[in-house]
Amino acid sequence: MASTKISEIADSIMGPFATLMLKQAHFPPPEDFPLKVLDNACGPGTVTLRILSSLSSHDKAKLELSCADISELMIGSLSQKIESGSWKNVKAFVADAMDTKLPSSSFTHIFFNFVPFILPLPLVGLRECHRMLAVGGTLAFTGWKSNGWADEFREALDHDPDLPPFPSNAQIMQMMSQEEVPTRWDNEDTVKTYCKKVGFTDVEVCVEVNETRWQNVGVVETMLPWTFGLVMNKFWTKQEIERWQDRGSEAIMKYFKEKYGTGEVTWSWKALVVTAQKSPLLQSGLAS
Ligand SMILES: C[S@@+](CC[C@H](N)C(=O)[O-])C[C@H]1O[C@@H](n2cnc3c(N)ncnc32)[C@H](O)[C@@H]1O
Repeated sequence: MASTKISEIADSIMGPFATLMLKQAHFPPPEDFPLKVLDNACGPGTVTLRILSSLSSHDKAKLELSCADISELMIGSLSQKIESGSWKNVKAFVADAMDTKLPSSSFTHIFFNFVPFILPLPLVGLRECHRMLAVGGTLAFTGWKSNGWADEFREALDHDPDLPPFPSNAQIMQMMSQEEVPTRWDNEDTVKTYCKKVGFTDVEVCVEVNETRWQNVGVVETMLPWTFGLVMNKFWTKQEIERWQDRGSEAIMKYFKEKYGTGEVTWSWKALVVTAQKSPLLQSGLAS
């Protein structure tokens, strides 16, 4: 299982929530509805793939799908998929979700799967979605309430008291924030408040759970740069990383090998799935 590609692992973690997000957004809409869609901070195209597989050929013919991400690597890999799949009316380009330069009031749907909370200024990204949505359009996004690995990693590192501390779950959720007072995207009430604050109406926030099951601990090792690596870079000093990185990784792998042996690794992921509308009545005034 150590050879499982990170893109497949990412899809098995975020994909089921993308499917639930599309469902909660009532996507695809009825057949006579226009489809000008933005997969915002699209990554490898987790949502795009599900959009395409959910549409009839009639709907695909009228679809205009834009996929935007700040990472050239992501856009490069998605552009290859678009080309090799001969996907019609789908384009991928680099854009910053906090300032996309895309036209105002132009999209019927914006999907933002596992994004606002990873932006330096999440509310700026949310407000940008409101600006780009057509009146009557739908925004749908997701964010973690709890992730699969943090509690077990903390427990693993607690066994070695010399190691620098591992952050709390709340600190991990807010680790990308550059806000003076970090906003909270793992709480139903605060997320609802933020959506209303930037002008959205009919905000619906649901808590959904998904369990991933992997054949063995190899997957934990594959994911270390995106889990432990990310946390170290945010919370440990350069000297601490140099000194303790290997010992930390060893402590984590030892813990998992002792706990799961050669058996399956099961992780539970809890996410908020959010849908909101740009209402005709409130489009001006509240959103500024
Ligand atoms: C957790 S991944 C989610 C990707 C995708 N939505 C999915 O469902 O697989 C976050 C993505 O946001 C992108 N990203 C981070 N900061 C961004 C920004 N300021 N503007 C646009 N994309 C950004 C990253 O490059 C990455 O692809």
